[in-house]
Amino acid sequence: MDKKLNILFVVSESTPYAKSGGLADVAASLPLALAKRGHKVMVVMPYYASIAPDLVRSEETPFSMNVWMGDCEEWCLVHPKGINKNLNYYFIDFQKYFFREGYYHNNAMQDYPDNPSRFAFLSQAALYLCKTKQIRVDVVHAHDWQTSAAMAYLKTHHQNCAFLGHAAGMLTIHNIGYQGKYPRDSYSYLGFREQDFNPRIFEDYGDINLLKGGIHFADIVNTVSPSYANETLNPAFSYGLDPFLRLKGDRYIGILNGADYEEWDPAADPLIVKKYGIKNMNGKAACKLALQQRMNLYQQEYIPIIGMVSRMAEQKGHYQLRECIEAIVNNMQVQFAILGSGDKELEHYFGALPEKYPGLIGAYIGYDNALAHQIEAGSDFFLMPSLYEPCGLNQIYSLRYGTLPIVRATGGLDDTVEQYVESDGSGTGFKYYDATPRAIYDTVGWAVSTYYDRREHYAAMQRRAMKQNFSWEESTNLYETVYQRAIKVANREN
Ligand code: ADP
Ligand code: GLC
Repeated sequence: MDKKLNILFVVSESTPYAKSGGLADVAASLPLALAKRGHKVMVVMPYYASIAPDLVRSEETPFSMNVWMGDCEEWCLVHPKGINKNLNYYFIDFQKYFFREGYYHNNAMQDYPDNPSRFAFLSQAALYLCKTKQIRVDVVHAHDWQTSAAMAYLKTHHQNCAFLGHAAGMLTIHNIGYQGKYPRDSYSYLGFREQDFNPRIFEDYGDINLLKGGIHFADIVNTVSPSYANETLNPAFSYGLDPFLRLKGDRYIGILNGADYEEWDPAADPLIVKKYGIKNMNGKAACKLALQQRMNLYQQEYIPIIGMVSRMAEQKGHYQLRECIEAIVNNMQVQFAILGSGDKELEHYFGALPEKYPGLIGAYIGYDNALAHQIEAGSDFFLMPSLYEPCGLNQIYSLRYGTLPIVRATGGLDDTVEQYVESDGSGTGFKYYDATPRAIYDTVGWAVSTYYDRREHYAAMQRRAMKQNFSWEESTNLYETVYQRAIKVANREN
């Protein structure tokens, strides 16, 4: 692709600065991949209280900037940080909104009621930044409900601006289960047009729905896997938004996320005890032993370990797993290494299992990136019983670590894991369809019996899994093509 673009990435989290899930991984690796191709990328995100000042500090001087929210003029500080010649981060420092214990909710998991104001402010600040810096932008790329407002501002506030007026709006939905639905009291502060508070755009049973408005105003909307794009056109998966996605027609597509194989590579991972690769798997046994030690599991190499790393939320299937995990450890020779945090009820249940099943179930309730790597490396299987999964990154990491995924065949899990076929030993993992405890139990049983009884199949699947390539290469090509198309749509050239 010849024409290099100016891309504004506006996002609520990006590693290593702030991460609550896969969005942060994508918001770090996609800009990097685009910048490598020669595009100029600006990433605008909040300066949260939890971000260490050293991470943000750079040779460039912070500057102040005004942002109009409705009739209210706000002033914030912007900290620029150049990553390389094509990639610049801008941290929006606005303590009133971002100096809090969490990103979206407090420690008791209660959403901040002023979230629409907080994240609409971030969205608007990103656009004002382009004006302030006098950068002519080709594409504004927003992510999830948090920055959906940028799509509306682009089309209704800045359409005549020399720097933003030609820009296309691209919105990526990473998870349609979270839509940014809040009471309408902040509507005038948000500064959206009165006429846009209607059921086709922002209004949702009397509330504001930010994602819905973003879908309306975006030139192109995508989600993070082809299967999830199809699923969300169906009411069973769309949380009410399928009619609005259908309205986009072929301007709604699925693009599979890539993985950052620099961070997730067993041959170069500094966070695991011994590195390994397809040609030398000895290191994996050392990682397994270390994981058993760390998680207080019986140190026996022959027992398979099933790893799990995820937010503990309904979406991830923990409630179904709760109904069968004890039967699994009672009836099968297997261990669990579980890492996660989220719903308090789930945290209590899974957090108490190690005491009830010492040596068989290890659980750490919390967030720990190093342990996430160690679980990927030390486990034999990786379980993701998700009810829905827009893309899912951990199964992609698992494949690379030779840790066979056991997944529900939904969304990106279905797109990235190839079903094991017992008659010829093909496949890269184990998939099931029904979102039931029984199906989890049976599929874990199938995987475990393959581990014990069909060793050659298991070993061949490991090699096949490790050779899979879900790097950003191909997805970046697709984003480039879609950006070009969005620019045409925005400028009514097609
Ligand atoms: P989602 O974004 O829905 O949470 P993904 O599979 O796309 O799911 O991404 C989750 C990311 O967050 C992965 O990089 C995973 O390793 C990480 N992660 C989730 N929970 C934890 C945790 N408790 N500790 C460390 N990393 C975690
Ligand atoms: C969301 C989804 C997850 C996806 C991630 C990154 O959090 O739940 O499936 O991988 O976003 O796109």
